[in-house]
Amino acid sequence: MISIEPLSSHLGASVRGVDVSKPLDAATFGLVLKAIGDYGLLRFPGQTITPAQQRDFAAHFGHTQAIRGRLAIFTAPGVPEINILSNIKENGQPIGATDAGVIWHTDMVHNETPGFANVLYALKVPRRDGRVLGGTEFYNLQAAYEDLPDDIKARLTDAYGVYTGENYTSIERTPFPEYGTNSHKAHKKEPVRHRIIATHPISGRKTLYCDPGHVDYIEGLPPGERDEMLQYLLKHIMQPKFHFVYDWCEGDVMMWDNLRTVHHAVLDFGPEEHRLIWRCQVEGDKVFDAAFVRQALSQARAAA
Ligand code: OGA
Ligand code: MN
Repeated sequence: MISIEPLSSHLGASVRGVDVSKPLDAATFGLVLKAIGDYGLLRFPGQTITPAQQRDFAAHFGHTQAIRGRLAIFTAPGVPEINILSNIKENGQPIGATDAGVIWHTDMVHNETPGFANVLYALKVPRRDGRVLGGTEFYNLQAAYEDLPDDIKARLTDAYGVYTGENYTSIERTPFPEYGTNSHKAHKKEPVRHRIIATHPISGRKTLYCDPGHVDYIEGLPPGERDEMLQYLLKHIMQPKFHFVYDWCEGDVMMWDNLRTVHHAVLDFGPEEHRLIWRCQVEGDKVFDAAFVRQALSQARAAA
């Protein structure tokens, strides 16, 4: 029996009764896909999985992306899709990436088809005086869209966010220090463009798909209005009413939807307060296939 319980008033749910280490049957898969569409973030508590099992679970939802670039050295042996995030050192050497996701962003905006989800598994969670540290913070882009004034929605109908990789050090171009800074350099890529007002392929609801850490500019607005609109949107997204903090617990498998959230890692823990999380990225190939989603949701309805 699968149970789904909301984690907050606007984002996240806890899912019990799913063993992530095993292949999902069609009904379970349909229920989980529907739930991620409804809640934007799912916690599967109390799991014990291997890197290969994590990748196989993630692969139900889309192609799993092998880690490239500077983080490729921190992957699980034999499973290049699993990225190790950690501040632990062994023999003086880091065992994982220490600064992944420090600035506000959403993953895989550089993919031609926007990236869908991240699936993370927590093995070590830092705590101090009983308080959990090293959380992951989110803003809810669906709620942010719904709260936009009608005239802004209208002006953005045919607007695109353009991503070239040049603006990965977002603090340098915005007046908002809360974006954070990055230790690694921007690097230019082939530009990709994504609709700012996107329709979610599972829920059919609109979302304000605008990544504060990466977006260069808005296409589809007069040049004189672009910068002002971008600043407005970024400030709009980062309001307390759209905010949610995820506190990790060892054994959590947690999956978030990159299409309707932005996130960042909270670096509030010290070098001796160990955090170890495995991470897998899921591309948008399956969820942007309307027949695939229709089929899965009909299975969910049959099972409900
Ligand atoms: C990521 C990321 C945040 C965290 O894995 O994409 O941004 O809290 N991680 O580790
Ligand atoms: Mn990220």
